[in-house]
Amino acid sequence: MKKNLVVLTGAGMSAESGISTFRDSGGLWEQYPVEDVATPEGFARNPELVLDFYNARRRELLKAQPNEGHKGLAELEDYFDVYIITQNIDNLHERAGSSHVIHLHGELMNARSTGDPSLVYPLSEDNPDIKLGDVCEKGYQLRPDIVWFGEPVPMIEEAIRISKRADIFVIIGTSMVVYPAAGLLNYVPQGVPIYLIDPKDVATMRSDIHHIRKGASEGVKELKKLLLESEE
Ligand code: APR
Repeated sequence: MKKNLVVLTGAGMSAESGISTFRDSGGLWEQYPVEDVATPEGFARNPELVLDFYNARRRELLKAQPNEGHKGLAELEDYFDVYIITQNIDNLHERAGSSHVIHLHGELMNARSTGDPSLVYPLSEDNPDIKLGDVCEKGYQLRPDIVWFGEPVPMIEEAIRISKRADIFVIIGTSMVVYPAAGLLNYVPQGVPIYLIDPKDVATMRSDIHHIRKGASEGVKELKKLLLESEE
């Protein structure tokens, strides 16, 4: 029986792939007011601005490749049952080969109906933009399939179930300030080893965390070494 390795990732996971983070200096929320581009109220006020913001994110993603960190996590499936819970809206974990990926905050490459949330449409690389006037089969405007601030996080229940079953828990590249994602740590059973990969200090409240103070690519390499040593 393989152990369950549960990995919570955030924007720093994809930074080395050229995807912008949110709260680092020069991060996205410095350039774009979050209430304008990532809330239902912002979308109601100026849908075109919001669509353009996510169209730009999607074009950034289409130029990006998974980094060594994403690939290293996929390789860990040889040794562990790896469950990735990501706050990221990119598809770089999947493209690196990870089998179990939960997206807490939605997926950039999907569009969703504003009138019927069950209508979700994959966007193609050839035609990746959502424009004002693009509608679902029932005639409602399409929006990005993203969880905005103030909206429910439907995947959190599944993420909690997975976190409770962790034998090893790893946090990579997230400032741990956005809930409910940051609260997942509270469901990790006592005694489970917790690793953090981040070049900076992070707002975590537990002292028993093994901090690998590196970027995602180097950090995952070190994690793999530590995990395989402790399994011997
Ligand atoms: N490798 C690993 N971590 C890195 C790297 C790197 N190369 N570069 C930066 N980081 C770390 C930063 O030190 C920081 O702790 O990644 C973290 C990024 O934090 P945020 O920008 O706050 O991103 P995240 O925690 O994913 O944000 C959570 O907030 O705006 C919302 O919905 C959005 O999912 C997002 C959520």
